[in-house]
Amino acid sequence: AGAKNIENGAHLNGTQQYLPHIIIIGVRKGGTRALLEMLSLHSDIAAAESEIHFFDWENQYKRGLKWYLNQMPFSYPHQLTVEKTPAYFTSPGVPERIYQMNSTIKLLLILRDPIERVLSDYTQVFYNHKQKNKSYPPVEDLLLKHRELNTDYKAINRSLYYPYMENWLKYFTLENIHIVDGDCLIRDPLPEMQKVEKFLNLSPQIKASNFYFNKTKGFYCLRDGGRDRCLHESKGRAHPQVNSFLMGKLQDYFYEPNKRFFELVGRTFDWL
Ligand code: A3P
Repeated sequence: AGAKNIENGAHLNGTQQYLPHIIIIGVRKGGTRALLEMLSLHSDIAAAESEIHFFDWENQYKRGLKWYLNQMPFSYPHQLTVEKTPAYFTSPGVPERIYQMNSTIKLLLILRDPIERVLSDYTQVFYNHKQKNKSYPPVEDLLLKHRELNTDYKAINRSLYYPYMENWLKYFTLENIHIVDGDCLIRDPLPEMQKVEKFLNLSPQIKASNFYFNKTKGFYCLRDGGRDRCLHESKGRAHPQVNSFLMGKLQDYFYEPNKRFFELVGRTFDWL
């Protein structure tokens, strides 16, 4: 079955809402916002601004596809609609639900070194607490228990990519899923974005001139029709320094799962 044919309320200018042709499924803290913003540089892309959580939140999913469609941006018929919800990647029921909507949809998964992702995840939760004037324990207190790695800590589990990937591959093939190297996207966004354009069969439009390195931020920012913008300050935050004991534990822990993931997707990544 291809895409379900639901379309919504055409506007006079010829735009209407479409169910997504592309979904950025994760991973949380992988660089999903950067990927969405960079993809939006392309004129054939129409992106949903906020995270919709349609397939992973029961109360949203039961509202049905018509509700989902209504969350999508108005776009021209030649454009591709994209939404991103990073929690999809690690939610067990999501692959099947997406498959039922559109078995040939294109999925983008942006991954980072699992250890960096853990520290980024920790940093995110730390700041969420800080915003609410609540304290959050130092990273060592959460990641270690009796001098062993505390594998109950959620952020560690979310960096075990292979079991989640296995679940996606029950429904989709690697032809439908393109993995973006989030570490490369940080260091040099253009080549990664060119691979994304190819995967999506988009015309090559994104150019070196769309990016400039912002020394203050320490990250690439976007230049779009003379308009310069960096990602929100919550993107690209300093991570806590971890001592060599904890780093060693993390490296030992992720060594095998990383290898299994590489085998699963037939490609390696430059992870520690
Ligand atoms: P950190 O803030 O931990 O460095 P997500 O959008 O999925 O939450 O991912 C956030 C991460 O995107 C950031 O994590 C940052 O490393 C990464 N990122 C990639 N490219 C970026 C860019 N050009 N500007 C800011 N952050 C970027």
